[in-house]
Amino acid sequence: MTTPFLRWAGGKNWLTTYLKQLIKNLNYNNYHEPFVGGGAIFFSLDPQHNGHNTFLYDMNTELIVAYQTLQNKPLKVIHKLQKYKNSADEYYSIREKESKGSITQTARFIYLNQTSYNGLYRVNKSGKYNVPYGYRKNVIFNEENLLSASRALQGTHIFNGDFTESLRYIGENDLIFLDPPYTVSHNQNGFIEYNKNLFSLNDQYRLNDYINEIKNRRAFYILTNAAHKTIRDIFRKEEDRLIIVERNSLIGGKNAKRTKIQEYLFTNIPEGV
Ligand SMILES: C[S@@+](CC[C@H](N)C(=O)[O-])C[C@H]1O[C@@H](n2cnc3c(N)ncnc32)[C@H](O)[C@@H]1O
Repeated sequence: MTTPFLRWAGGKNWLTTYLKQLIKNLNYNNYHEPFVGGGAIFFSLDPQHNGHNTFLYDMNTELIVAYQTLQNKPLKVIHKLQKYKNSADEYYSIREKESKGSITQTARFIYLNQTSYNGLYRVNKSGKYNVPYGYRKNVIFNEENLLSASRALQGTHIFNGDFTESLRYIGENDLIFLDPPYTVSHNQNGFIEYNKNLFSLNDQYRLNDYINEIKNRRAFYILTNAAHKTIRDIFRKEEDRLIIVERNSLIGGKNAKRTKIQEYLFTNIPEGV
């Protein structure tokens, strides 16, 4: 099994065991992941090689170029990465460069993701990656891991665009795993914060329309989202299941403590399947 090769905000490594159990006996056709991000779920299920034609999508163009390039030219990407050093000077010089060509672009993307401060993908107003150097001691990349990711990607269809693009390909009995960016969350004072720029409340409503459409097509969906009343009001459907899942989290600065965070999982996969 491949482990994700990118650090990704909202990564779902913690959910993989539960999810496998949830779909264990589900008879489904094609697999779609419209918010693939770092691909924790995709890599853990390895659907393409378990008999399901697989479709991956994301809005982030650099991420999609990286998947496509790794699918087709993994050795060239690895060769490029071998030339990069993990140092502040090298980091800022690579960060400043406009990379041309998909191989250099992919190597740069992986390099910055692994050596930056928190691995978050953040760009400034003019679209430039602006995360500082991370002073992380670990290696820049793991060759075996990249080759294994490349194998998992063989035969998959990879698209850059809005999640609704997937409607072109979704049919009866397909399985769609949806992990959108969270729009609402509680901050440390317990106030609700809305993430206006990345994925607005309006996008959550669009996502609900999309779910209604894929249900009309008799496809299966699994949606993860923040455990929040606003989210429940948008997505709760009488005939489907709302499951509360829990993950461990570390919060607070100096006196950080372990705590459990709840998230919602909505699905039309019947109980007992
Ligand atoms: C929470 S992350 C997915 C994390 C992923 N499940 C993982 O384990 O790494 C959400 C992803 O949605 C993407 N995204 C944001 N808006 C989108 C949109 N309108 N359509 C498709 N993807 C979008 C982001 O680029 C990001 O990669």
